[in-house]
Amino acid sequence: MSAQTITRRLTQADLAKLYQAGEKIAQFTCYDASFARLLESAGVDTLLIGDSLGNVIQGHDTTLPVSVADIAYHTAAVKRGCERPFIVADMPFGSYQESPAQAFRNAAALLAAGAQMVKLEGGQEMAATVEFLVARGIPVCGHIGLTPQSVHALGGYKVQGKGEAAAQRLKSDAQALKAAGATMLLIEAIPAALAAELTTLVGIITIGIGAGKDCSGQVMVLHDAFDIPPGKKAKFVKNFMDGASSIHDAACRAVAAVKDGSYPGPEHTYAG
Ligand code: KIV
Repeated sequence: MSAQTITRRLTQADLAKLYQAGEKIAQFTCYDASFARLLESAGVDTLLIGDSLGNVIQGHDTTLPVSVADIAYHTAAVKRGCERPFIVADMPFGSYQESPAQAFRNAAALLAAGAQMVKLEGGQEMAATVEFLVARGIPVCGHIGLTPQSVHALGGYKVQGKGEAAAQRLKSDAQALKAAGATMLLIEAIPAALAAELTTLVGIITIGIGAGKDCSGQVMVLHDAFDIPPGKKAKFVKNFMDGASSIHDAACRAVAAVKDGSYPGPEHTYAG
């Protein structure tokens, strides 16, 4: 099965079938209806309304000021713009860490806005919350490795999982999230070999960003892939506008590169 042959909204069961068939899953961040339409026509499987909208839409230095209302607003716009991609919405900083009940209330608002799954940052410490949400009908994607909402605790946007102890902690985090019922795991900025190990270990969909080619899929931040922000880019960012005839062509190239495994290449990958 290919997602291209499905004309209705993809479900998490459809993504699971792609994963089981060994087809790479292509995800983009998206924040509005026009790009949702364009990315859908390029064949993207899933769209993430990321709290990176704090950076790329609102102009903040971090994702920390983003609110549930912001994510809900952009989720509704994305949903109106497309009919097929599976829609994942980020839970912003401060909207889920307090208690499972707080997380449920805010996740429910994002589902009401059109999300089919919520993503939240953290490992073992979030397992009880993930379990609470999943038991109440809310699909959850975990997010481990570099977790931008913890930028101040981490001391910057740094590669994670280096060294035996850090790698072991990430393995325990991934297993705890899977055991709690997460059906997708976003893995950010860790050595490729560790991401490959985590992918085998958990046996659920892993979506990488700066985590090498062996994840089940890749997420690309829209503005990075289309070379919009000026300045130095993270190592894993590829400019898909390079050689493309249009934004649509760049999006098609990005989806194709994820599907055929040519992105990310070794030059986009961190070593252990
Ligand atoms: O908000 C975001 O864009 C993210 C990225 C890691 C994809 O979570």
